[in-house]
Amino acid sequence: MTTSSYLWWQTGVIYQVYPRSFKDTTGSGVGDLWGVVEELDYLDQTLPVDAIWLSPFYPSPMADFGYDVADYTDVDPLFGDLEVFDELVERAHQRSIGVIVDLVPNHTSDRHPWFIESRSSRESLKRDWYIWAEPQLDGSPPNNWISVFGGSAWEWDEFTEQYYLHSFLKEQPDLNWRNPEVKKAMFDVVRFWLERGVDGFRVDVAHYIMKDPHFRDNPVDPERGRSIHRPMGDYDSQFHIHDSGHSDVHDIYREFRQVLDSYSDERPRVSIGEVHIFDWEEWVRYYGENLDELHMPFNFTLLNVPWDARAVRDAVDSLEAALPDGAWPNYVLGNHDESRLATRYGREAARVAAMLLLTLRGTPTLYYGDELGMTDVDIPADRQQDPWILDTAKMGRDPCRTPMQWSPKPNAGFAPPHVDQLWLPLAEDYETVNVQVQLKNPTSLLQLYRRLLTYRRRKPVLQRGAYRALDGVPPACFVYVRTDVGPSSDGWERLLVALNFSSQAQRICVDSWGAGSLSLSTHLDRQGPVDLGDLTLRPHEGIIVEVSDR
Ligand code: NOJ
Repeated sequence: MTTSSYLWWQTGVIYQVYPRSFKDTTGSGVGDLWGVVEELDYLDQTLPVDAIWLSPFYPSPMADFGYDVADYTDVDPLFGDLEVFDELVERAHQRSIGVIVDLVPNHTSDRHPWFIESRSSRESLKRDWYIWAEPQLDGSPPNNWISVFGGSAWEWDEFTEQYYLHSFLKEQPDLNWRNPEVKKAMFDVVRFWLERGVDGFRVDVAHYIMKDPHFRDNPVDPERGRSIHRPMGDYDSQFHIHDSGHSDVHDIYREFRQVLDSYSDERPRVSIGEVHIFDWEEWVRYYGENLDELHMPFNFTLLNVPWDARAVRDAVDSLEAALPDGAWPNYVLGNHDESRLATRYGREAARVAAMLLLTLRGTPTLYYGDELGMTDVDIPADRQQDPWILDTAKMGRDPCRTPMQWSPKPNAGFAPPHVDQLWLPLAEDYETVNVQVQLKNPTSLLQLYRRLLTYRRRKPVLQRGAYRALDGVPPACFVYVRTDVGPSSDGWERLLVALNFSSQAQRICVDSWGAGSLSLSTHLDRQGPVDLGDLTLRPHEGIIVEVSDR
């Protein structure tokens, strides 16, 4: 690829804003879109990032905090209105920050007018917009499918005496994408946001939208969860081969891509699918046989491997090996459904994780607050919000969704100081772990993110260079090289990234790479010439070395 063929979403860094928790300007205790507008300088100047992905802000009864959409083409008054949304896009674009919105195609809210109409009678013109089925002879649900949130995926409707499918909450009925009217309506939604200037979509549970047309039972998994990477209660008792991921899904994403492409002349738009599939062969299919489906399925592999140099290297190498020619990689270390990165790995390792995420080949997506080392917050039972915890013990996602910690002021600068109760409690450490305090500390985690982000911006080799892991290093280290055409005497630019995953010092020796100049340490306290034949990494230290000769 020539330099000019790289697109903004390939070279850039995406930052996920969970609007409920980013900044509350109205005093409701819930974040809003004005809050995002107010913090554009933070995203642009302090960090800086290239695009934000906004989790849903659409009108919603909030049974699943916005992933139950009651109107796809408006803004919930809690978050603002279309006017502030337009302002956000305009102001973000002035700063060259792209805006990616969440598209929730698999299900609506049960209060969406489409579902209300569908459920009104078997003869309704929208009956077939959702997935309705007859009970079995004994009255039980049509098949054994289980909702991700636990229990049968079918809900009995007393009034019309049929079951409807809900892969998530019963308040989130699944749309029937086999009905061409549904497809048209959803593509109209896509056009609506593209016309308002959005730069792309994060597609919620993208693989779910097509299921087995014959509603066959899922096979039982006797080992409960052998095929998946984290315990999900009841859901683990089956192989989910019929309730999601039917191969007809690919026709839909080919068409979806055409809609996006028809808006991409003046500015390329992007689609990123939330695809929880851990079989690479199946996963890469979402790029499309001719790279004509989603631009990227999210790569969640690193969330599911232990913090161990070999395991992480294997995850990266296996992705690199699985990618079809031209398919662009990406990495995720946190989001609104996962335990916080600093909780999973610890605060020291979180620095190494930041370097990993921002130096691998592919688009990184950061989750708000991870740049501060925000950790999971224990939520007292009477403050819990997530419907998942109410159904399945320990599955609650509230701990990773607590308010952004901006300053040591009351309410952490997230909400006006007089607000009594925030939608979720603040972390207890907010007086020390916050943007304001970390900006004053030259070696804070936030400063490390800033340095990594600005360095990455300056270094095309990090944005687009080839990746190769080095062998012959201590087992606790993951060492790799990024290479690209560049200014050195042999016409190449090379960076060596060495990460120590352990709490002991490690000595590495990569003689063949000659001398180098250390440009960044995760400890933010050293720079300058180093001998690659004898290099010591301190406990939990990662470094980037510019290499001049091989
Ligand atoms: C995936 C989203 O990330 C999650 O938060 C949501 O609960 C489900 N999809 C259902 O929409």
